[in-house]
Amino acid sequence: STGDEQLQKEFPPLKNNLILRACRGEKIERVPIWIMRQAGRYLPEYLSIRSQHSFFDVCRTPSICCEVTLQPLRRFDLDAAIIFSDILVVPQALGMQVDMIAKEGPRFAHPLNVPADIKTSIDRNKKASIELKYVYDAITLTRHTLDGRCPLIGFSGAPWTLMSYMIEGKGSETHAKAKKWLYTYVEDSHDLLQFLTHFIIDYLVEQVCAGAQLLQLFESHCVRDLLSRRQIPHVPLIIFAKDAHYALDELCSSSFDVVGLDWTITRKQIRTLREKYPNITLQGNLDPCALYASQNDLEKMIKQMIEIFGTKNYIANLGHGIYPDANIDNVKYFVDTIHRISKDIIKN
Ligand code: CP3
Repeated sequence: STGDEQLQKEFPPLKNNLILRACRGEKIERVPIWIMRQAGRYLPEYLSIRSQHSFFDVCRTPSICCEVTLQPLRRFDLDAAIIFSDILVVPQALGMQVDMIAKEGPRFAHPLNVPADIKTSIDRNKKASIELKYVYDAITLTRHTLDGRCPLIGFSGAPWTLMSYMIEGKGSETHAKAKKWLYTYVEDSHDLLQFLTHFIIDYLVEQVCAGAQLLQLFESHCVRDLLSRRQIPHVPLIIFAKDAHYALDELCSSSFDVVGLDWTITRKQIRTLREKYPNITLQGNLDPCALYASQNDLEKMIKQMIEIFGTKNYIANLGHGIYPDANIDNVKYFVDTIHRISKDIIKN
């Protein structure tokens, strides 16, 4: 358990603020890097913990959550930690039952079929500050345990992503059921998105109060709403909108500090974004499958990536979450090579 002492808000001084400087477009000695899903099934030490605890038990127990969050940092020279959790803790907090099924992914026991289901499945009186306290406790504990080594990222799913899961009940390629709601139950959809938006803002604010130093939002819809409310204390905000190639201009012109690019975004698109939005920090976007390549080939791809993004206003990452069968040696090589090559470029 986390004693009050550990939860006090005086945090150790930060020894590595590279990623925060990159978000502000400041001078850096080397390009910062972190990896989406950096704590996860490709690490034997994670699997070992998962053999004893269910996925959501890990999320709900601050000491275990902290341990899992720090595991990748023991192996790799990462420039940020991301709190171990899932975007689906939000629907859970609202009263929906979500289970993590091995080899399948998350499943909702009772997805929303029609608007009337909202009343029975969602408790609108729930408060993010109360229901998700275990996340804030985990963040505070992890921030202390990090001892200033690097910043801690908090995150949330964005409203449309969460609404889609709540209706589909699981991951979906087409989001057809959820999109059908948008067209057939227009007002109810707006209302649900609005409610989720408010809940998510509270959730993000609480994460910052608990010690999160950056925030990443997964997905894009309704982000304007999130930001127009200006309720999020000033920490850098990263938007990672998968498959949002058609919306990159919009994302770069809204008030996000960092736009995360998935691995399908081409070099030409990246160059155009760089020219049009020199003050936006870009994050990405190595194909997770590139980690299967030889280190020789990997080095070439990393070089190309740094050439295209440049070293300023840039955070290196994969273009999507790392896969469970990723080669651990190559993950280390990826991190070290980003640092080595970018350091050389900046020095000369
Ligand atoms: O990045 C991190 O290391 C932080 C932890 C994190 C997880 N999920 C842990 C996780 C984050 C940021 C997420 C985000 C998330 N979760 C998203 C948005 C990003 C994306 O992938 O598009 C979504 C859509 C989810 C919902 C979710 N959770 C799915 C679809 C799955 C199954 C897919 C899979 O890889 O199995 C999960 C499970 C999940 N979330 C795992 C982890 C480590 C693996 C489950 C396990 O350990 O048993």
